[in-house]
Amino acid sequence: MNNVTLIKSPSFGDERGTLIAFESAIDIPFEVKRVYCIYHTEAGVSRGFHAHRNLKQFIVCVSGNCRFRVHDGKHAEDYALNSPEKGLLVEGLIWREMHDFSSDCVLMVLASEHYDEQDYIRDFKQFISITREEKSSAT
Ligand code: TYD
Repeated sequence: MNNVTLIKSPSFGDERGTLIAFESAIDIPFEVKRVYCIYHTEAGVSRGFHAHRNLKQFIVCVSGNCRFRVHDGKHAEDYALNSPEKGLLVEGLIWREMHDFSSDCVLMVLASEHYDEQDYIRDFKQFISITREEKSSAT
């Protein structure tokens, strides 16, 4: 899907354990302005259900696992985020949902912009009509 890319990052393991690093503008193709984490998610709870007008995110499960669903206005795709080595880059007009959090899930999100409620599209129907407008203005 356009604007959604799975990025594999190497981890450094030795007899002490494992370390993984993500460098802004090197491993992650934007300058990171904000980091937030989603954790202690209650059983059966899903989160997200929004798109962004102008935000790049790199999403990585640093503990446990969850299912990350993206929708581009036409199709949905599900990604199993179950390793710190497997991060999802989401850019552009994409609807995001998070499901099936394990109880130990810590989802870390690196974001290209500061928090801005104005940047959110929280209504799925509105999201679909904006994707259609964008498509017709591009042709
Ligand atoms: P919310 O958007 O509901 O989370 P989700 O995307 O998982 O559905 O955010 C929960 C609360 O956290 C809400 O009050 C806004 C606040 N918040 C911040 O203050 N800064 C942030 O960077 C984010 C993502 C959320």
